[in-house]
Amino acid sequence: MSAEAGAGAGEPVLDVRELAKLYPLTRGIVLRKQIGSVRAVDTVSFTLRKGETLGIVGESGCGKSTVAKMLVGLEKPTGGQILYRGEDITKLSGRALKAVRRNIQMVFQDPYTSLNPRMTVGDIIGEPYDIHPEVAPKGDRRRKVQDLLDVVGLNPEYINRYPHQFSGGQRQRIGIARGLALRPEIIVADEPVSALDVSVQAQVVNLLERLQDEFDLSYVFIAHDLSVVRHISDRVAVMYLGRFAETGTEDEIYGHPTHPYTQALLSAVPVPDPGARTRRERILLTGDVPSPADPPSGCRFRTRCWKARERCALEVPALAVPEGFEQVTGPARHASACHFAEERQVVPGG
Ligand SMILES: Nc1ncnc2c1ncn2[C@@H]1O[C@H](COP(=O)(O)OP(=O)(O)O)[C@@H](O)[C@H]1O
Ligand code: SF4
Ligand SMILES: [Mg+2]
Repeated sequence: MSAEAGAGAGEPVLDVRELAKLYPLTRGIVLRKQIGSVRAVDTVSFTLRKGETLGIVGESGCGKSTVAKMLVGLEKPTGGQILYRGEDITKLSGRALKAVRRNIQMVFQDPYTSLNPRMTVGDIIGEPYDIHPEVAPKGDRRRKVQDLLDVVGLNPEYINRYPHQFSGGQRQRIGIARGLALRPEIIVADEPVSALDVSVQAQVVNLLERLQDEFDLSYVFIAHDLSVVRHISDRVAVMYLGRFAETGTEDEIYGHPTHPYTQALLSAVPVPDPGARTRRERILLTGDVPSPADPPSGCRFRTRCWKARERCALEVPALAVPEGFEQVTGPARHASACHFAEERQVVPGG
């Protein structure tokens, strides 16, 4: 299976091509002068298929939320295309854009700040119907919102309560219910469990998995930790400084990583089995993530890579099956943006 094909996937619903977002970097308060740009997302490409989950993982600041916001239309790309069922939605405006955006909804990271504390749960979940009244005529709203509360595992009688009356996990369920209100095809979940207690994280992930089957959803699921996306994702993309470093299925990424950055991230994932913990290799990354306003030439990862050589500063490695892996069959053969890609077992029994 190629990195693009995905596991048991249907037809493409999103085709993202060379997506980019540059934010202007300015100086001065009165006379704002542009002195450069922040390359928050620098040419990211992927396909999302019907019913599939793509996990996107990377350290804070690598551009994950910017990708998410562009997918749902909260930020305008400065380059590239987002094809939804073949149509470039970055070119749409007005009614056509509104119609498409109904099908691509977002669940936000922080259930504490993303819900308006002065609105009731019923008004929060039903808010999308203000923009799309055709989905729920006024007389039908209350029942629809109560159905949604039930679907996400909350008591429909809570409809008049306020966000502060709920726990973190319950608030994220409210955020998910709101994301479902318009019956979208695609949900972009930006670190939906990062702000929650570990004990609650699995419940919310399980809920998202159940809803995916029930509503035939496709997910882009963002996390900063590889362990969070492992079981929910059909494919995973590892992101570093605005680009994808490596993409593949669970077996390809977790069992046969070939990019040094993925190997380093995996070596830091907690392993419950103490035997495995002592046998496995830890790769400690040195140095800070460089500023996206001044990214390294060639390979973005080279300032922290223990394998970096001259070629790494000169040539940008393409996200493709690396040299030396073209003839390989099996899961080591997948897209990895490294000139010197090699397999390295970092999690025993990966
Ligand atoms: N509105 C903005 N203006 C300028 N820079 C921004 C803006 N939003 C994000 N950035 C920068 O873009 C980079 C990527 O940010 P973000 O997408 O939020 O990363 P992540 O979600 O992976 O933590 C960061 O360096 C961040 O500071
Ligand atoms: S291209 Fe070079 S610097 Fe980049 S990950 Fe590979 S070996 Fe490291
Ligand atoms: Mg973010």
